[in-house]
Amino acid sequence: MTDKELIMQRKSVRTYDGNSLSEEDKKSITDYMPQCTNPYVIPVEYRVLDANEYGLTSPVIAGGVTYIAGKLRRMPHSEEAFGYSFEKLLLYASSLGLGSVMIGGTMNREAFEKAMELGSDEVMPCVSPLGHAADKRSVKEMLMRKGIRADSRLKANELFFMDSFDRPVTETEEGELKDAYEMVRWAPSAVNKQPWRLVRTGERIHFYEKKSKGYTDSTGFDMQKIDMGIALYHFELGAKATGYSPVFEINEPDLIHPADTEYIATYVLK
Ligand SMILES: Cc1cc2nc3c(=O)[nH]c(=O)nc-3n(C[C@H](O)[C@H](O)[C@H](O)COP(=O)(O)O)c2cc1C
Repeated sequence: MTDKELIMQRKSVRTYDGNSLSEEDKKSITDYMPQCTNPYVIPVEYRVLDANEYGLTSPVIAGGVTYIAGKLRRMPHSEEAFGYSFEKLLLYASSLGLGSVMIGGTMNREAFEKAMELGSDEVMPCVSPLGHAADKRSVKEMLMRKGIRADSRLKANELFFMDSFDRPVTETEEGELKDAYEMVRWAPSAVNKQPWRLVRTGERIHFYEKKSKGYTDSTGFDMQKIDMGIALYHFELGAKATGYSPVFEINEPDLIHPADTEYIATYVLK
């Protein structure tokens, strides 16, 4: 399966068949962890956790008995770094036929943080169940997906721009980046808010976060920056599939941007 196919067929799974992760799948996931680096070069430590052993629960999950969680040092860009790295790991899990869903809010966080032996200088942004989807989604999951319109996304011309935020990209201008844009568009995000806004200037694609209210906590931790990390990873996969070797940089351009947006990072198309 290509990366694009993997991204397009992925959906969050909240209803599982009730079996633990097989030893074989656990080994594949664990072996892949060292590859889940990120452009911010912030190390992320992952652990596969047995829900029963640690008393891990989530009100939105049915039948999930194995979880995976990650932690990293609390510092500027921890959120984007984590989003990029965790999405890489979860897409790999998806390629093995395993379901997952990033969970940043709906869990008994204290139990997870204890299981992760979280240090005072560390943060555990999200966790995910890992396992095989049940044949049918629970009623709760179906209602939840409907409520957040999980099966739809904003249109490309609401997300992607050319030269300035005033000029939505046209289909012709998408050109060879059409797939990369589509792969960003279908990324998962907290409450499906899709905060990513991309502005292309020449060979540079600048990523901005459109902030919704209520996603930054009292410590300054911004959940929507996890979404931005995910979008960066999806874009990189798409650009690479088109033959580019995109180069990551943080170098804010001199662009006028809406007050509720924040510059995140840039990919230079090489
Ligand atoms: C950073 C992040 C945090 C999330 N937190 C939760 C959560 O706490 N509970 C939940 O049920 N889903 C959570 N989700 C899943 C999103 O609701 C889901 O990705 C989105 O609705 C799109 O649906 P899809 O993944 O099926 O495409 C989270 C997703 C992301 C990226």
